[in-house]
Amino acid sequence: MIEATPLQYSQYLSSLTETNFYLKREDLFPEGGGGNKARMIALILKKAKNQKANYIVTAGGPHSNFNRALALMSKKMGFKLRIVLYDNNPHIHQESLNKRICDQAGVEYSICTPDEVAQRIEEEITKLKNAGENAFFIYGGGKSHEGIKAYAEVVQELNTQINPDLIATTFATGTTFSGLLAGVQMYSPTTALLGVSIARKNEISVPIVSNNLLEFFELKTPPISSFEIEDQILDQYTFGGYGKSNKELQDFIRETMQNTGLILDEIYVGKALFGLTEHLKNNTKFNNKKVVFLLTGGIFNF
Ligand SMILES: Cc1ncc(COP(=O)(O)O)c(C=O)c1O
Repeated sequence: MIEATPLQYSQYLSSLTETNFYLKREDLFPEGGGGNKARMIALILKKAKNQKANYIVTAGGPHSNFNRALALMSKKMGFKLRIVLYDNNPHIHQESLNKRICDQAGVEYSICTPDEVAQRIEEEITKLKNAGENAFFIYGGGKSHEGIKAYAEVVQELNTQINPDLIATTFATGTTFSGLLAGVQMYSPTTALLGVSIARKNEISVPIVSNNLLEFFELKTPPISSFEIEDQILDQYTFGGYGKSNKELQDFIRETMQNTGLILDEIYVGKALFGLTEHLKNNTKFNNKKVVFLLTGGIFNF
């Protein structure tokens, strides 16, 4: 059993948003360099171990926090790891510390273009099987029953720490958000939830979340309507897409770092925190209420 990640009050973010603002330090999760993806991977790799796998196969881009945490945690548990590597975002020129860590951890790459990914994954799994290896495939970013369960459990963990009025998180693939939504439904139905999208529009995000919940709860009809899901995801703060930024976002990040000492990256948490603070400034609903923002990482794409 892993200890709860710390919950820290922020005077600066509380004043800025007129709430009681707390940060749940998922970046301090004690495995794989930390972060939300590491928490998911802890459960996913347990399943791989139970299935007696010796090889892990996944796919992702060079900036993926998931890949880095998976590389470190796979190696710790004695798995070999092959990553189908592709770059959906060649506009991001910044060198990726995540990729360098994967390189040093001895990840095997199979490099392809984004439209070749599905085919390449199949080929790699077949190759490994033919070589007598027991390969376990993990969907890129950790979308899985275990990934969702990991964040449903965070709602329980939070209830032992504070009983929040609002939980907010960065929304990329939506796995973290889906887990929190499942957790809120099961353990904390009066708690509000907000995902702040860093890339996708809601017409793409909402069906993903809906399907995640259907699969997680093994239902035939969604436990929550698309309208209700849509209300809980903000998609107006994407700055034009994944890795896209501008001076307003950069100024916000710099000023917040100078006032909080937090490490905020432009791709994920810095962008989402911008959206959340804007939303809270423009809405009085959570004034003086307990708001928890999941600080899901940051340093590796800084
Ligand atoms: C640091 C960080 N925060 C938040 C997210 C968003 O998580 P999800 O993809 O589960 O929506 C990611 C996704 O890669 C991430 O790396």
